[in-house]
Amino acid sequence: MTYCVNLHFDYDPIINKEKILVPPKHHVYMSMLNLFEVVSAKFILDITKTGVTFSNNAELFYTQKDKNGILHRDISLTGPDAVMKDDDYVKINFMLGGQHSLMNWYIPNTDAVAIKSNSYNTGAPAERFSISEVSHVHSATVGYPSLVQVGIPHNITNNLIEDRFVICLVPIFNNKRMTMELALEKLAPFIL
Ligand SMILES: [Fe+2]
Repeated sequence: MTYCVNLHFDYDPIINKEKILVPPKHHVYMSMLNLFEVVSAKFILDITKTGVTFSNNAELFYTQKDKNGILHRDISLTGPDAVMKDDDYVKINFMLGGQHSLMNWYIPNTDAVAIKSNSYNTGAPAERFSISEVSHVHSATVGYPSLVQVGIPHNITNNLIEDRFVICLVPIFNNKRMTMELALEKLAPFIL
């Protein structure tokens, strides 16, 4: 399985960085931004040419440098966020700061019990797992940007070096969230 693949653009797709990179009061935090206030029109146009569109919201995740993220898998299974495959769908992540931090992926053990939860400040749904219920399968440093797998359990280990901000976009094809295989095919022009 592919977990993380870097994408390449010869310009900076992210705009308004100074508004985004403001450390919140909480150690680990998620907020929702408007796509059009986060990425440039050129970036949206370049992606749209491949047939891929985006959900209108962009998420912003913050992890203080000495903290780790929550172990979870993303779930968004209805409406415009329907997925093609329940345990295989991607986001596009732009990591800012968080040098040497890792995104880690896991497979649930057969006895794992997923606990449904919603981010308290955005309502984004997820299923949480305890670390004893999953088996580690891969770790990688997320790029600027990377396609990342979010349909299986994942978390972040930060590094004591710097705070980590990640902007997450949800790519959509035919009104559904994309599998890694489809995203790799459609976004091939941006993969070296
Ligand atoms: Fe996630």
